[in-house]
Amino acid sequence: DGLPRFRNFPPSDFTVPAEREAFPASIARLRAAMGQQVPLYINGQDVVTDDTLDSYNPANPAEVIGSVCQAGVAEVDAAVEAAREAYLSWRDVLPEERAGILLKAAAHLKANIHDMAALQVLEVGKQWDQAQADVGEAIDFLEYYAREMIRLGKPRRMGRAPGEMSHLFYQGKGVAAVIAPWNFPMAISVGMVSAAIVCGNPVVYKPAGASSCVGRAIVDMWKAAGLPNGVFNYCPGRGSVMGDHLVDHPDVAVIAFTGSMEVGLRIQERAAVVQPGQQQCKRVIAEMGGKNATIIDDDADLDEAVLGVLYSAFGFQGQKCSACSRVIVLDAIYDRFVGRLTRAAKSIRLGPSENPANYMGPVVDKGAQENVLRYVRIAEEEGRVLVKRNVSDDLKATGGCYVPLTIVENITKEHRIAQEEVFGPVLAVMRAKDMDEALDIANSTRFALTGAVYSRSPHNLERASREFRVGNLYLNKHSVGALERHAFGGFKMSGVGSKSGGPDYLLQFMDPRIVCENT
Ligand code: NAD
Ligand code: ALA
Repeated sequence: DGLPRFRNFPPSDFTVPAEREAFPASIARLRAAMGQQVPLYINGQDVVTDDTLDSYNPANPAEVIGSVCQAGVAEVDAAVEAAREAYLSWRDVLPEERAGILLKAAAHLKANIHDMAALQVLEVGKQWDQAQADVGEAIDFLEYYAREMIRLGKPRRMGRAPGEMSHLFYQGKGVAAVIAPWNFPMAISVGMVSAAIVCGNPVVYKPAGASSCVGRAIVDMWKAAGLPNGVFNYCPGRGSVMGDHLVDHPDVAVIAFTGSMEVGLRIQERAAVVQPGQQQCKRVIAEMGGKNATIIDDDADLDEAVLGVLYSAFGFQGQKCSACSRVIVLDAIYDRFVGRLTRAAKSIRLGPSENPANYMGPVVDKGAQENVLRYVRIAEEEGRVLVKRNVSDDLKATGGCYVPLTIVENITKEHRIAQEEVFGPVLAVMRAKDMDEALDIANSTRFALTGAVYSRSPHNLERASREFRVGNLYLNKHSVGALERHAFGGFKMSGVGSKSGGPDYLLQFMDPRIVCENT
């Protein structure tokens, strides 16, 4: 169709002076303009509410990024109504035309990538390179789903029976509620939203409170792309006030959720209840948490393994569903690996993510800080502390949401720290006598999202491919940072639905129809 083949957006290269200098310049520009009121956006109009919630810089909570208007029940109703109206025409817009809007949105992100990434550094404390990668991933979703819709949008002839002509084609299901987390604030939001939209479903989008300003930047993206009014409605709000109402709404046909297991299960349960006036069964796509393990075989390349575990466990402060939170080490190499991991973890620099010399920054907000500190105490009670990087007095004085990087050993699969998702920089070290036991421990949680194995043994790698039962398994590679050429997602309690960025993803947002004509 004249489109070049899909390629992942390239990672940033901060050895190039222009790239390196663009970042602080973007941060300074944003800083000069921020702290403003952030309205909702419903049916092409800004909407202001009395209730607002400040989104702040986790490295300096006194710095307000935006004072975000909060949707209540009335605003949710207005947004769903706007989306319902828009559906009547949007579903019949040609698939290629809908795809074209995604490509324009991708062009907008490419042209503004430094500002988009800098906003994440300020709002959620993401490191430069990872913030840029997050915007790159959003671009990938737009480019990939546009091509996927063009592929799926062509009616497919079914059968060759004489005297009849039969075609299969797809139709968007209806209004989509998209409920997003803050940890990949642009990529995951844009992924879910653009998939819904390109399939013909107008969206009511609820960003997470901690990343609502990044969420508002998605309004600008769709405006630049020329999306018709009502097809994208930005509706930040407190989960406790409007979350259930949005999920329960009888006019919502699809719910695309990414977040914790607790909220994901609640959404699935509520969405199963048919409300008065409801005309369709709701489809729920829920991507949830993980308790991901990395296995270190006794012949592993330790240079690679130590770096891979550090990055998977402590990159973005361990706040990734894909993060490594359990490292399972074979007996024969235990002391060597753990000694090197411990030394490396002690050398990591902590401080604001705005300074690229800092490997680890603050966690996203005060609630997350309290939660991680609680798990650090549990880890200390259950295991033996190998590393606890206390936060310096200087950093404490900033009021930033810092937590100690923590590694504990003597953890077995019964411990809470081996079973519950912490979502922070807390790593459990577990000892296994051989690969049988390592795989048994790896599979011993209710989650099945990512995993990694460092080994030089082709037999053990091949065995792990079959027996380490997770959605995304990495061999001699860290467990974070899936690209669209990988596709991403888990099963068991890690989620229901097919992989984002994969060839089955869009089908979840559409109903197939067949027209069979007697010719
Ligand atoms: P969260 O579950 O607390 O919140 C996610 C979203 O749900 C937010 O927008 C929140 O406001 C909303 N919400 C809260 N209560 C609600 C309710 N009753 N009804 C409707 N919506 C409600 O998760 P989080 O803290 O934003 O993100 C971290 C979690 O997300 C971790 O568990 C992580 O593993 C998971 N995650 C999973 C993936 C994946 O692809 N599997 C990717 C990223 C994050
Ligand atoms: N897609 C993200 C990763 O792989 C969650 O780290």
